[in-house]
Amino acid sequence: MRIVVGITGASGAIYAQRLLDVLEASHEVHVVLSNYAPSVINEELPDGLRLKEGVVSHNVRSMNAPFASGSNAFDAMIVVPCSMGTLGRIAHGLSSDVLLRAADVMLKERRKLILVPRETPLNLVHLKNMELLLMAGATILPANPGFYGGAKSVGELVDTVVSRILDHLGIANSLMPRWREEKE
Ligand SMILES: Cc1cc2nc3c(=O)[nH]c(=O)nc-3n(C[C@H](O)[C@H](O)[C@H](O)COP(=O)(O)O)c2cc1C
Repeated sequence: MRIVVGITGASGAIYAQRLLDVLEASHEVHVVLSNYAPSVINEELPDGLRLKEGVVSHNVRSMNAPFASGSNAFDAMIVVPCSMGTLGRIAHGLSSDVLLRAADVMLKERRKLILVPRETPLNLVHLKNMELLLMAGATILPANPGFYGGAKSVGELVDTVVSRILDHLGIANSLMPRWREEKE
């Protein structure tokens, strides 16, 4: 698959790191950070964001990225974690940088756009923006870990979210135990 991973300044940089860690090299992965993402990454990831060999990083201020145009087909984009600011800007078609433009392209081309918002509590503006995005074809996959699998570490809780992202990308994974699955 050809995948764009957008990372914003919402809390939860660890979700993006884990997703990038588990996406196999058989996928073409491009990364773009919002203007504010580096500040939050600096707070939350002691070693900074690690990119595997082969992952292509893009400057958010440049439209010279293949996914800035619908003519260069990508399969999916994930915005993880997704701030309420970016979510609102995507919902209203701002497209003022390449992360927002890529999301706009995914929607217009009817490709997979998975947004992983993180905020609490939510106000009416957040919810209305999510409604608009759902109607436009995005998948809203909140960074809400699941506890029913008996996770014993932060990493295992993170995987309950990353696993669902992979599920929605159509990538088979066993990052978390499934509800009532047979143990081998
Ligand atoms: C440590 C830290 C944590 C933050 N967590 C969130 C969050 O969980 N959700 C959110 O919507 N904004 C959060 N923010 C605020 C966003 O970073 C801010 O609104 C920023 O302008 C978002 O810009 P961006 O969407 O371009 O990344 C946080 C800011 C900081 C400094």
